[in-house]
Amino acid sequence: MADMLPIAGASTLPSPKRQMTEEKMIMKAIVVTDQAAGTAGMKLVERPEPQAAINDVVVQVHASGFVPTELTWPSTWTDRLDRDRTPSIPGHELAGVVTALGYGTTGLSVGQRVFGLTDWYRDGTLAEYVAIEARNLAPLPGDVDFTVGASLPISGLTAWQGLFEHGRLRAGQSVLVHGAAGAVGSMVTQLAREAGAYVIGTGRAVDRQTVLDFDAKEFVDLDNDALEDVGGVDLVFDVIGGDIQKRSAGLIRAGGTLVSIVGPTEARPADGLAVDFVVESDRAQLGEIIQRVRDGRLRTNIGTVAPLDDAVAAFNSTERRAGKTIIRVRPTGMIGALKEKHGLQLPTRTLA
Ligand SMILES: NC(=O)c1ccc[n+]([C@@H]2O[C@H](COP(=O)([O-])OP(=O)(O)OC[C@H]3O[C@@H](n4cnc5c(N)ncnc54)[C@H](OP(=O)(O)O)[C@@H]3O)[C@@H](O)[C@H]2O)c1
Repeated sequence: MADMLPIAGASTLPSPKRQMTEEKMIMKAIVVTDQAAGTAGMKLVERPEPQAAINDVVVQVHASGFVPTELTWPSTWTDRLDRDRTPSIPGHELAGVVTALGYGTTGLSVGQRVFGLTDWYRDGTLAEYVAIEARNLAPLPGDVDFTVGASLPISGLTAWQGLFEHGRLRAGQSVLVHGAAGAVGSMVTQLAREAGAYVIGTGRAVDRQTVLDFDAKEFVDLDNDALEDVGGVDLVFDVIGGDIQKRSAGLIRAGGTLVSIVGPTEARPADGLAVDFVVESDRAQLGEIIQRVRDGRLRTNIGTVAPLDDAVAAFNSTERRAGKTIIRVRPTGMIGALKEKHGLQLPTRTLA
């Protein structure tokens, strides 16, 4: 307690010495060092476990989500001052259990199940442990599997924010949802339908039934149908960009909105708004999303589940994989389930 008392000219923060451990604990993690190599450059290595900074928690990752386009984002390679930060750990979605609290952290406790979205510029979730700001996490109810929890933060929050914050969707409006069989598009389709919108989903021919199963009213096969036959819509939710976005802008009714999640908009509705945004974490919205998953209003779109040891192979698969790939970092099974139930931790090895 004595070293926490303020003294003249000193901060009330604990000295760095207090936060250091005697031994450096190590963990398994996937790192990237070479942007040109894409997912083929991912490597499973041993890295020191992260430490919780101010207002952070450390989470033992049970399941992790990764968006392949992360490897094209500047934040995967450099810090906020544009300095090289490789080798960096990709993956920004997680579900897991809090194992440590940083100085001053409130709102979460050790042993709590959580899920959420990590900072783009920090090491991510394809690892056994991650340090993350507590505000980026929400409680994960005990009846929701970690695999499901890890599949929701990016796709669920992007859909929520695009529809309700940026798109200002209202009941009775019509929405054109591109890539509606994909991770984000399937969430957009379901949330828009629940909000009372008429949804037209698009995708490839093979996606038709999937999109209708996510409750879209109509499906447009972008390779074979005429997009222009859709007629007027109030909102376009675009996950594809390029020519499809430009043609879609022409379908937007007066007062409508084009929402893009694939960078600055390349077209503008004649009499409406064009918005592009990057998803942000939001605990209340994560709560809304998880409640809908629990009561069956929202279905997640998981295609493949692979263990951390097989993650690099899973991300480099040459097959077309429908749905999201989730990495089950901490295996389930009888022992895992018992450990989860009783909050036990596996022993961690130490660096030589
Ligand atoms: N700004 C943000 O905050 C934010 C957040 C999340 C995601 N994103 C971005 O949004 C994009 C979509 O993410 P996601 O996770 O939903 O990806 P996803 O799961 O791969 O979904 C995209 C869907 O669109 C389909 N599609 C793509 N191009 C198409 C085309 N030309 N014609 C017909 N269908 C097409 C894909 O089919 P195929 O699989 O057959 O190509 C897939 O079904 C990515 O670029 C991602 O980086 C941005």
